[in-house]
Amino acid sequence: MPTRLESDFSWQSDLRSQFPLLNNQPICYLDTAATSQKPRNVIRLMDNYYSQHNANVHRAAHQLSASATQDFESVRDKAKVFINAKRREEIIFTSGTTMGANMLAFGLTDLLTAADTILIDSANHHANIVPWQQLAKRTGAKLIAIGLDANLRVDNAAYAQLLTEHQVKIVVLSHVSNVLGTVSPIQNLCQQAKAHGALTVVDGAQAIAHMPVDVTAIDCDFYLFSGHKMYGPTGVGILYGRYQALDTLAPMMTGGEMIASVSFEHSEFAALPHRLEAGTPPIAEVIGLGGAIDFIKALPNNWQACEQALLHRLQTGLSAFPNITLYGAHSDNLAVVAFNINNEHHQDVGMLLDQMNIAIRCGHHCAEPLIRSLGLSGCCRVSIGIYTTEADIQQFLDAMAQVLEILG
Ligand code: ALA
Repeated sequence: MPTRLESDFSWQSDLRSQFPLLNNQPICYLDTAATSQKPRNVIRLMDNYYSQHNANVHRAAHQLSASATQDFESVRDKAKVFINAKRREEIIFTSGTTMGANMLAFGLTDLLTAADTILIDSANHHANIVPWQQLAKRTGAKLIAIGLDANLRVDNAAYAQLLTEHQVKIVVLSHVSNVLGTVSPIQNLCQQAKAHGALTVVDGAQAIAHMPVDVTAIDCDFYLFSGHKMYGPTGVGILYGRYQALDTLAPMMTGGEMIASVSFEHSEFAALPHRLEAGTPPIAEVIGLGGAIDFIKALPNNWQACEQALLHRLQTGLSAFPNITLYGAHSDNLAVVAFNINNEHHQDVGMLLDQMNIAIRCGHHCAEPLIRSLGLSGCCRVSIGIYTTEADIQQFLDAMAQVLEILG
């Protein structure tokens, strides 16, 4: 029997009771990197908006619209503080990370010529690969992947060389790998890009719920994340942009909300942030995202230490089994462990665990290039969140012992 973890988890039963699904379903949920479960305050805020305050924002003269607008816009202020942006106009509401990356890849088109290069970190997932690939195709610019080193982290020597050898205009980075959980030295990578005059785009989808994110300290030009991986709703996310960088973006979407004036001959676009938020926004989802920010900010001081202790239990528990290979498992990773049982198909492992009510993800995890670079067709991924308990980890490890026996 393993020794008990040292961190103080006494707050956890109260916290877990705030997640209705975890109380309604007999499930050991270890797929938070795909989407997190939602706390009651997020669900309530969205329900309350539709039941009590439903009206469109920024438009009408009536009181209901004014209060919806205030609730909606207050989330922009909350998000600004949450990621330490300098101005509220630097927070753009999107439908998620994928939309943010598409907005950037579209909006930066005029920056590139066929002589230019986009560098992309190999740990990125499809949301932050495909839009850049399409941009490269449209402009003739080169898209070059920065390789990973033996520890499956960004190969810094290769990165420095690529920055020197090419006319790099954009560097596309991943803060935390959604497959491996490895954390990139993002501040340093951005600094190097900046020294070569390149813009930096950081995908923070897998970082935002597992570490404090400070975009001013990182000093990136753009930072992207989704609400649904940080205990918030689906259908909403944030594109942060340094004001001057954001202000150069051509809007991918045009229409209502993003204009100052319209005639049949010509339209004047509105100032930031509205210029990049065409159409009726996801109002309830933005309000729900505000609830998710409140939820994270109210977590006890030791929440990260507790999440880290559980991750280490997972890593050591899995590596103690014979015939299991872990990928890129470091003690400073966050929230994710990737592995395979040697000579067994990852889907078989996932299916057997599912029969024991344990939810993990198996496959390429929307990151085929990374998976292929490991020489794999897929792997199993266990991912934890703030509601994951020591009992969940133990249940999973016990189940893995059975899976190994069944497959063995
Ligand atoms: N990108 C998401 C994941 O990691 C969907 O599972």
